[in-house]
Amino acid sequence: MTAGTLLDVKDLSVRFVMPRRSPFGGRPMLHAVRDVSFSLRPGRTLGLVGESGSGKTTTAMAAIRLLEAHSGAVMFDGVDLLKLDAEAMRRHRRHLQVIFQDPYSSLNPRERVGAIVREPLDLMMPGTSRAERTERVGELFGLVGLRPDQMALFPHQFSGGQRQRVSIARALATNPRLVVCDEPVSALDVAIQAQILNLLRRLQDEYGLSYLFISHDLGVVQFICDDIAVMYLGQIVEYSDRPSLFSRPRHPYTAALLAAAPSLARRKSAGYVREGAVKGDPPSPLNIPPGCAFASRCPRVQPKCLKERPLLVRDGGGSVACHYPLA
Ligand SMILES: Nc1ncnc2c1ncn2[C@@H]1O[C@H](COP(=O)(O)OP(=O)(O)O)[C@@H](O)[C@H]1O
Ligand SMILES: [Mg+2]
Repeated sequence: MTAGTLLDVKDLSVRFVMPRRSPFGGRPMLHAVRDVSFSLRPGRTLGLVGESGSGKTTTAMAAIRLLEAHSGAVMFDGVDLLKLDAEAMRRHRRHLQVIFQDPYSSLNPRERVGAIVREPLDLMMPGTSRAERTERVGELFGLVGLRPDQMALFPHQFSGGQRQRVSIARALATNPRLVVCDEPVSALDVAIQAQILNLLRRLQDEYGLSYLFISHDLGVVQFICDDIAVMYLGQIVEYSDRPSLFSRPRHPYTAALLAAAPSLARRKSAGYVREGAVKGDPPSPLNIPPGCAFASRCPRVQPKCLKERPLLVRDGGGSVACHYPLA
């Protein structure tokens, strides 16, 4: 593990065994995440970007063991989470929290928000007194910009942005070290997005939080992430610090994403000019082609790309998995 790393994910793979399609066939295997490696420093934000279905959520959920990985290692603060037994994992749980995209479906509609924020404290902080936990809930409401009298309300009595503040308060209740933010602003209006992103940044500065930040929106990623991993069909195709990724994308897929992102000043990146999203669909994760997974949509495709799978190798400031990276 690299020094100064909080989370070090190595060769993580996740497969889903699908229902048999005929009584005589085997059970098809969906390769959702394939040999993914990345690391996250304390107090920093690593972005996972890519189209829907590229494996972002599965990667994050497997890394914090809300989903079972097929193989790999997840070093968190020096221990491999994937090797822990249930009891040891429970002790780590308070340090690994999640904020989901849609707070309306992740918050119990029949519970008052005060109780929702309190729940992780009751479950994961058994050493504290009732009074201490109640006080902590009040403190958390203040931290995320909600009023104490709002504790008695139900989720539907809040706006989308306020509900996301409730989710953030709940995620921070146990003083976690790592917070997975899975598209936390994707369902919000742009003006509200900025408020929530600023809140996340401020809380990060104050508490030294590390974020694993999932988004399909490059504008959001550019605002909040220090390092970025671009995913395509379950793999990382480019991994770089933010300035390098945005000023000099190396993978044709990254360049295509940048060219298609409406909110970015830098649209004509690296000579790859195309309006709209990347055309066509990715291959099926049930039947991954040999060679480069992006070959079927790549404007730079060569015969080698159809035969040989490119490995993620260091290139300039970051890493890229492409036989013919952009200059
Ligand atoms: N529980 C599941 N069972 C079967 N397939 C799944 C499951 N969860 C995700 N997948 C599949 O795994 C792939 C990656 O999904 P996901 O991680 O949700 O992508 P993203 O978050 O990037 O949109 C997709 O092909 C998706 O259909
Ligand atoms: Mg997702």
